[in-house]
Amino acid sequence: MQRFNFDIGLEIGTTNIKVYLKNKKKPLIIPSVIAIKKETREVIGIGKTAYDMLGKTPEKIEVKKTMSKGVIVEPYLNKVLIKEILSNKIKKIFKKPKICMCCHSFMTNLEKLTFKNSIFNSYEENVQLIEESLASAVGLNLNFSDEESLLIVNIGGGTTDITVLHYNNIIANNSIQTGSEQIDETIKKNLAKNHNLLIGNLTAEKIKKQAATFFEPKKDLKFKIKGKDNITGLPKTLELTQKEICADINIPAEKIVQSINNTMHESAVKLTIDLEKVSIILTGGGCLIPGFKELIEEKTRLKTTIAKNPIICASYGALNSSNFFVGNYSEFNFSS
Ligand SMILES: Nc1ncnc2c1ncn2[C@@H]1O[C@H](COP(=O)(O)OP(=O)(O)OP(=O)(O)O)[C@@H](O)[C@H]1O
Ligand SMILES: [Mg+2]
Repeated sequence: MQRFNFDIGLEIGTTNIKVYLKNKKKPLIIPSVIAIKKETREVIGIGKTAYDMLGKTPEKIEVKKTMSKGVIVEPYLNKVLIKEILSNKIKKIFKKPKICMCCHSFMTNLEKLTFKNSIFNSYEENVQLIEESLASAVGLNLNFSDEESLLIVNIGGGTTDITVLHYNNIIANNSIQTGSEQIDETIKKNLAKNHNLLIGNLTAEKIKKQAATFFEPKKDLKFKIKGKDNITGLPKTLELTQKEICADINIPAEKIVQSINNTMHESAVKLTIDLEKVSIILTGGGCLIPGFKELIEEKTRLKTTIAKNPIICASYGALNSSNFFVGNYSEFNFSS
């Protein structure tokens, strides 16, 4: 088996880019956004700097997301963003770093190569791909017992990746293009439809982090939301209850639960797995909405826990995946 010792574990996520450097305790977490001048497309800020400009930019400046649902939607800007991140922070440490980068299992092998090549030209031979669900599994540092079957579910911003582990082997990998940003979108649509209040995607994300819950929403818990009136176009502030804000957020959540259930049942039938012995570990920032774990537990009837560091788990796993790597990114096998 070919062995790799990686210098960087990289996850180019729909919401955040994670860069885990060898020998560092914490990764860099950088929002996948970039600020440009509309006319010239000149880049004026990346990552957090661009994120902080949101909602405050003059007409001529636009803050753009480079990824959507796990797919690069702004290839040129995405390349600029990654180049900036790597050259600013990393070239000083490594001359030619060996990188292990996450990708999604919904991608075909050709799409994975395109994904890699659209980001790296010069580094090409030093970049290996690993599916995000596998990277998350590695990142958990699990001590497997042979009896256990596990589902590792990474709920990200734009995607949900599911891996089924059985007797220490990966027996199924699945991913869907639904993640926590679909909950932001639901909040945004709901405010427009029910309250004539227009807000941006990132305001919706902020509201989600403050107010969203899958527990019974409280009728007397209120949040002030600033936006634009859909009819007059004027700024408007509304005070809405948690119940009003959370309307319909269970729709994208149900899609995620459905996908977990499908993956689990398909695997269970194929391998006659005893479902009583299966448990779920949640990773990815999407699982942090209060009550999501409980919702998944209730709907799947499987013991469910949230990983210790859910957001950085995949990039940590990518960095440390050398023992598990088989060399060909399309053939993953968890047992070495
Ligand atoms: N405390 C929190 N409460 C609720 N949601 C959160 C919290 N922290 C992060 N999130 C959500 O988690 C998502 C980001 O998670 P993560 O960084 O794992 O996604 P990603 O890797 O960028 O996306 P993907 O893997 O789908 O491409 C965002 O939608 C963000 O709003
Ligand atoms: Mg992710």
